[in-house]
Amino acid sequence: MANKPIPFEVYQEFKSILGEEFVLTDAESLEKHGHDETEHLLFLPQVVLRPRTTEEISRIMRICNKHLLPVTPRGAGTGLSGGALPHLGGVLISTDRMNVILEIDEQNLQVTTEPGVITEVLQNAVKEKGLFYPPDPSSRGSCFIGGNIAENSGGPKAVKYGVVRDYVLNLEVVLPTGEVMWTGCNVLKNSTGYNLTHLIIGSEGTLAIVTKIVLKLIPHPTFDLLMLVPFNSLEKAGEAVSAIFRAGFTPSAMELVELNALQIVSKFVDSSAVAVTEETEAHLIIEVDGNHLETLMAEMESISEVLTQFDCGEIYFAEDTQQKNELWKLRRRVAEAVKLSGYTIEEDTVVPRAELPALIRGAKELGKKHDFEVACYGHAGDGNLHIRIHKPGTVNSHGDAEMTSILRELFLVVKNLGGTISGEHGVGLIQKGYMDIIFNETQLRIMREIKKVFDPNNILNAGKIFD
Ligand code: LAC
Ligand code: ZN
Repeated sequence: MANKPIPFEVYQEFKSILGEEFVLTDAESLEKHGHDETEHLLFLPQVVLRPRTTEEISRIMRICNKHLLPVTPRGAGTGLSGGALPHLGGVLISTDRMNVILEIDEQNLQVTTEPGVITEVLQNAVKEKGLFYPPDPSSRGSCFIGGNIAENSGGPKAVKYGVVRDYVLNLEVVLPTGEVMWTGCNVLKNSTGYNLTHLIIGSEGTLAIVTKIVLKLIPHPTFDLLMLVPFNSLEKAGEAVSAIFRAGFTPSAMELVELNALQIVSKFVDSSAVAVTEETEAHLIIEVDGNHLETLMAEMESISEVLTQFDCGEIYFAEDTQQKNELWKLRRRVAEAVKLSGYTIEEDTVVPRAELPALIRGAKELGKKHDFEVACYGHAGDGNLHIRIHKPGTVNSHGDAEMTSILRELFLVVKNLGGTISGEHGVGLIQKGYMDIIFNETQLRIMREIKKVFDPNNILNAGKIFD
């Protein structure tokens, strides 16, 4: 199916549906839509379409299904597993013009939105009404809510508030055949039939294109407190994480950043907010939130007491919004900074929380064995560790036999610890070769059969998640 020529009349049909200006074939547009944030990969689509409505997408899908053209849906292109990469060429559908928040229902605490709205814009819009949409990927300032649905994104707040899946009530989708349907109902409980909504969430644009989204909201907490905790040992930091939960606390964020990652990002954003000393192997960033300040202060105090049992250094408490923002800026920009500094290969491993120290140890041992540097950071409270790899001369894992075999070793460590290969970035293109480590043939067969039900001609984001 790769790079099959698109017939001239098909271009004409696209132009009559969208208008000439939203059917792009110039080199710059193809290049821009040919990569995302995954490694250093580039696959050019043959044409980029920028629809405005569900109806337009439906008409486009009918044409592509008739002509068996590969279609790749794309949000903001911030993905880290290559889900939006048009590796088969073909038609790329960008949702960037579908960027309207349709309704904030303050009676029912819900928001209905189009998929091309930037996540942070949506969060701020509902916050103005005192409401909270918690899932907050690091890229929230640029990623689209539609992409978050596709990947079932998480982010720092997932540890207390859950991931995207926990907030989606209903989705309007266009199927690969062009049919349009809603997957569920705008209610808080639903035991009516198979849950199609949850099947679409995290399906990485392989089953349908999401065109409208109904999300559940909660009241926004009034206060939050943030602390930064240095540790001389990365593993001790990992041990402290599960101890805090066992002691009865659920922070609203519990993030870990290893020394090298912190040094790189501090330089990248030109920040001296954290005094990085060589002895400090890792930091935990811990946030608590709620509506009673005194309670939160007492909670921070008690958490500090737990932390001191794990050889932590002097705890730094962010005093005001500016100090908090500075710390969050460092954390949110780690991925971008370490990638630019050479750690181009990124893994999204997740293990049961208490196994975090073993995962860190395993990653470091593999680094020594195969001669690569590792920078770890991520959502420690969820056991979700982003392992960044810097091996001079190897920028991509995708298509690299040696790196692929190293990653298989890493993923076996993850599996043996009871974990899996992606907590929030998805499988997409670059992790599909490892699915057999996690799933057996029966499980994979069922997934493939589901794909066939939705997409009998295998045109929509084909070759993602599995071949
Ligand atoms: C983060 C993104 C990359 O945690 O998931 O920074
Ligand atoms: Zn993350």
